[in-house]
Amino acid sequence: MRRLVSLPRLVTGVFLGSIVIAAFSNRSLAGSHNTDLSLVPYDSANLYKRYCQACHGERGDGKGPAGKAMNPSATSFLTMSDTTSVEYIFQVTTQGKGSMPAWKNLLNDADRRSIAEYIKRAFISNPQKK
Ligand code: HEC
Repeated sequence: MRRLVSLPRLVTGVFLGSIVIAAFSNRSLAGSHNTDLSLVPYDSANLYKRYCQACHGERGDGKGPAGKAMNPSATSFLTMSDTTSVEYIFQVTTQGKGSMPAWKNLLNDADRRSIAEYIKRAFISNPQKK
C-alpha cells in the first residue's frame, strides 16, 4: 500500500492549493457561466497559468510569488533534465511532492496530462530556456 503523506504537509498543501485556486479561478472564469472545470475545453498554457504559475513561475523557473516562499522552494523546470518524461511530471502532479499538493482530486486526468506535456515542451525541452 502506498504511504500516506504526513498530515501537516497535507494540510499545508491543501491550504496553499485552495488559496491558489481561489485566487485564479475568479479571474479565469470571469465571463463564463460554466463552473464545472472538466467541461471547459482545455488549453494547456491556461491550465498552467491558472494552477501552477503562482508557485512555479511564469517562465517555469520556480520564482512564482507563492513558490519562492516555500521550503524547499517550488522546483524550477528549467533546471530539470531534458530526459524527464511527461509521464514522470504527470505522476508527480497527480501524487504531489513534499509541500506541493496532490492534484489528483483537483484536476482530471486529461488536464493533468495536458499540463505535464506543456511543462515538458515549454520549459524542460525548450532550447531557449536559459
Ligand atoms: C503551492 C505551490 C505549488 C503549486 C500551486 C504547484 N506546485 Fe509543483 N511544486 C511545488 C513545490 C514546493 C515543489 C518541490 C517539492 C519538493 O521537492 O519537495 C514542487 C515540485 C513539482 C514537481 C516535481 C519536480 C521534481 O523535481 O520532481 C512537478 C513536476 C510539479 N511541481 C508540477 C506542478 C504542476 C503541474 C502544478 C500545477 C498543476 C504545480 N506543480 C503546482 C509547489 C507548487
